[in-house]
Amino acid sequence: MSENKKLTTSWGAPVGDNQNSMTAGHRGPTLIQDVHLLEKLAHFNRERVPERVVHAKGAGAHGYFEVTNDMSKYTKAKVFNGVGKRTPVFVRFSTVAGELGSADTVRDPRGFAVKFYTEEGNYDIVGNNTPIFFIRDAIKFPDFIHTQKRDPRTHLKNPTAVWDFWSLSPESLHQVTYLMGDRGIPATYRHMNGYGSHTFKWTNAEGDSVWIKYHFKTDQGVKNLDTKTALKIAGENPDYHTEDLFNAIENGDYPSWTLYVQMMPLEDANTYKWDPFDVTKVWSHKDYPLIEVGKLVLNKNPENYFAEVEQAAFSPGNLVPGVDVSPDKMLQGRLFAYHDAHRYRIGANYNSLPINRPRVEVNNYQRDGFMRFDDNGGRSVYYEPNSFGGPKETPEAKQASFPVSGVAENARYDHDDHYTQAGDLYRLMSEEEKTRLIENIIESMKPVELEEIKLRQISHFYKADPEYGTRVAEGLGLEVPEEVKKG
Ligand code: HEM
Repeated sequence: MSENKKLTTSWGAPVGDNQNSMTAGHRGPTLIQDVHLLEKLAHFNRERVPERVVHAKGAGAHGYFEVTNDMSKYTKAKVFNGVGKRTPVFVRFSTVAGELGSADTVRDPRGFAVKFYTEEGNYDIVGNNTPIFFIRDAIKFPDFIHTQKRDPRTHLKNPTAVWDFWSLSPESLHQVTYLMGDRGIPATYRHMNGYGSHTFKWTNAEGDSVWIKYHFKTDQGVKNLDTKTALKIAGENPDYHTEDLFNAIENGDYPSWTLYVQMMPLEDANTYKWDPFDVTKVWSHKDYPLIEVGKLVLNKNPENYFAEVEQAAFSPGNLVPGVDVSPDKMLQGRLFAYHDAHRYRIGANYNSLPINRPRVEVNNYQRDGFMRFDDNGGRSVYYEPNSFGGPKETPEAKQASFPVSGVAENARYDHDDHYTQAGDLYRLMSEEEKTRLIENIIESMKPVELEEIKLRQISHFYKADPEYGTRVAEGLGLEVPEEVKKG
């Protein structure tokens, strides 16, 4: 046993008594001059920071990323350059809709967020375990999430709101088919893939760019839970996935993923059969095959959950030279949302917290703000331009330039085919998978209050594949509307 350290107040003074508060007389009232008691109670009242507005429940781990296939031909980002290059990472997995204490084994997409502490600053891939998403414009995100959260009146989940929104937003059909299928409940965080989902741009040292999509394929194999088992576990052990990840790493059974990219020449974006910036669609692997990049390994649990997992701040806007964004309207909205959420959730100086602090020197002209706990730039020059040798720009680090044209307006997407890829996914499933998918949908839709909503959604399933729509309709005791059958 190590020798006990001296117990101190937060201002460092030794504490005389931590078990009995100071009272006026043996049975008298408590004295306000017991400043240790006051500080202890007051700090306790402030232990909570706001939970993440989405992805509140999660688990994280440290590890590394190792390049197995040099990507310098395509991107100058050092993290992907040079076979054998290792970069430390922190990864956080999460569910989306539930609160901080909610059950892990629910039907929900899973967050898959990776922070690479690169030699050029932090690079984050903040993705999900699905290659697609429900909507494709950031302007719809708050409404969509409202339907996934609790009803403001009943404080209960509301299936009517969920299916109302989806049936009125048919771009969701592809992801709904994914979510209601077997992959909707992963067996563990270790047994699922991760995807950057959006299209990003890679640019090499010569200034040549390509569009890319990230795919982290689990080396443990994809495994899922059936609905019944998942429900049972949710009751017995709501922290099942959190515990699994922690125990696996603690026991030296380090989970790993192989990172691949799909790559599309810039000019293909104008002619490809799908809009490559529409996050509700995938690119065919036949058209753009997977190219291996490296290996992600998780080998160390956090020492402190709050300090490392709760305070971790991931953002698709944390980019490094050689990686840029695409015009995907969801991604563009996310570039605002995350840094803004971090300032609200953990404060303006969140990037100085140890878990978020880059592993490179940070030099800029930002100063002050709540909880500035480093030297705040000391006596160094605090404005630019200056004549005192302050930090200077790196012109090579500018984002790759790109042409823009057109009229500023609230533009709709050109493509409105929400049915082909959803139908393809359905047709790819085995008979047993289809049956489970239909059962899950029926169970989820049964409580929907308005028949009109059910019929509208059935029509979408039917348009994806007549069999898909007919089976859901039958399960709900309804008929596919005649006008939908006629096409
Ligand atoms: C977390 C907004 C779409 C993946 C969050 C957070 C916000 C947010 C505010 C909480 C951040 C924090 O407090 O640290 C949005 C908006 C979206 C959007 C406005 C659409 C416009 C997406 C998409 C994906 C995604 C498409 C995946 C492809 C995640 C993940 C987290 C997260 C993984 C958790 C990060 C962590 O572990 O800390 N999102 N999101 N989000 N979002 Fe999104």
